Amino acid sequence: MSEQKLTTTETGTPIASDEHSLTVGANGPTVLHDRYLVEKLAHFNRERVPERNPHAKGAGAFGEFVVTEDVSQYTRAAVFQPGAKSETLIRFSSVAGEQGSPDTWRDVRGFSLRFYTTEGNLDIVGNNTPTFFIRDAMKFPDFIHSQKRLGDSGLRDSDMQWDFWTLSPESAHQVTYLMGPRGLSKTWRHLNGYGSHTYQWINADGERFWVKYHFISQQGVEPMSPADAERIAGEDADFYRRDLFDSIAAGDYPSWDVYVQVMPYEEAKTYRFNPFDLTKTWSKKDYPRIKVGTFTLNRNPVNFFAEIEQAAFSPGNQVPGTGISPDKMLMARVFSYPDAQRHRIGTNFNQLPVNQPHAAEVDNYMHQGNMQYHFPPAAHRVYHPNSFGGDGGPAADPQAGVEASWESDGELVRTASTLRSDDGDFVQPGILYREVFSPEEREGFHQVLGGQAQAITIDEIRERFFQYWTNVDAGLGQILRDGYAQGAVEPATDSHENT
Ligand code: HEM
Repeated sequence: MSEQKLTTTETGTPIASDEHSLTVGANGPTVLHDRYLVEKLAHFNRERVPERNPHAKGAGAFGEFVVTEDVSQYTRAAVFQPGAKSETLIRFSSVAGEQGSPDTWRDVRGFSLRFYTTEGNLDIVGNNTPTFFIRDAMKFPDFIHSQKRLGDSGLRDSDMQWDFWTLSPESAHQVTYLMGPRGLSKTWRHLNGYGSHTYQWINADGERFWVKYHFISQQGVEPMSPADAERIAGEDADFYRRDLFDSIAAGDYPSWDVYVQVMPYEEAKTYRFNPFDLTKTWSKKDYPRIKVGTFTLNRNPVNFFAEIEQAAFSPGNQVPGTGISPDKMLMARVFSYPDAQRHRIGTNFNQLPVNQPHAAEVDNYMHQGNMQYHFPPAAHRVYHPNSFGGDGGPAADPQAGVEASWESDGELVRTASTLRSDDGDFVQPGILYREVFSPEEREGFHQVLGGQAQAITIDEIRERFFQYWTNVDAGLGQILRDGYAQGAVEPATDSHENT
């Protein structure tokens, strides 16, 4: 047994009891100057921070990324140079459910990855699907509202979900993924991650490339049946969280291979799909996956709240040699995440141990704000420019801080991006349904959508639902219409609240 330590106040003074308040006599009133009681209750009252708005329920772990290949012709980023090793953090999540929601409700899964690199933190905040529901950030709050709860009853609602989706045809590709096998995974270990957006890489000569990140599970991609998901949602709401923690605790470390699709900069101008449209994928025939390395999760958090709940990922956390692209969603996300984190955690959220860079130094002219923890040497000036040289503070360097860039010109307009030859909203979902899903997966997909048709209570929305799927594939639309008319498609075991 180790030596018993003393309980103290938050300022380190030993306290007399963790069981009895200070009272006037054994049965008398409690006194306000019981400093420890007041501190304990007041601290308890402030234990909760706002949960993330989307992606509230999740968990994560730490690990190591090792570069096994040579992609230096595409990027100068130190984290991707041959043989480089970086500490990593991952957080898996569901999108719509609140913190206490069951892990196995049908949903897209978040796949947030951080590399603690020697050039600062690189975050790829993606999902287990290579696409998304919308392509303009203006629609994001409306999309999330439609997946959350009604204003009056506080219930989730199929009418609201399908109303939004069927009025937003660009959602069809992602909804096909969601209602297919990727909507329910066996565990978080059995899913692939995708950066989803197009990002930019820049090599040592300043050459630019467009890239998409793919994180391929070495455990394999395995679905969970809707029946199992519904049962497990009742039996163990934390099923995925438990599986990840227990696997790592038992030394069964999950791994993912890191790949990129690389598009030469100029080709983006003429590719048959808009390469910056998040509702589309790039054909792997046109741009095959190129392997970069592997990361392995080998360390559980010691403290869930401090290291996972307070983790603050942002797609804007890029490093020299990597960057964002002119994807309208991605540009808005660069603003949105740190803004949410200033509200959720506080101004100095990046000073917390999980968020500060682990392999690089921070130095700039920002200071103060609530909960400032780090501070520079006394000679460090609080303004730039100053005449104190290196002692007075850091200097910016365009060579070191190489940034993504692209040409852009035109009038200010509010309009959709211009379409390319193959840019229809229903083209890629049709291919996914007909050519990528196996016959069994198509059968399961019909069952899930049959259940969804029954969960919709408003005829006009159900009619749009049939039309939406007819646009994806005429045969699919007919199967769903016939099934609904005949009551032949059995209700899927996913309840409408589970989407
Ligand atoms: C313009 C569109 C979007 C906006 C405005 C947005 C906004 C947000 C916000 C505010 C959070 C909570 C952040 C926090 O409190 O720490 C969040 C979480 C998240 N979002 Fe988005 N999001 C958008 C699109 C996307 C897309 C396209 C993806 C995936 C490709 C995605 C994946 C995630 C993930 C994985 C999380 C959880 C992060 C974590 O694990 O801490 N989001 N989003």
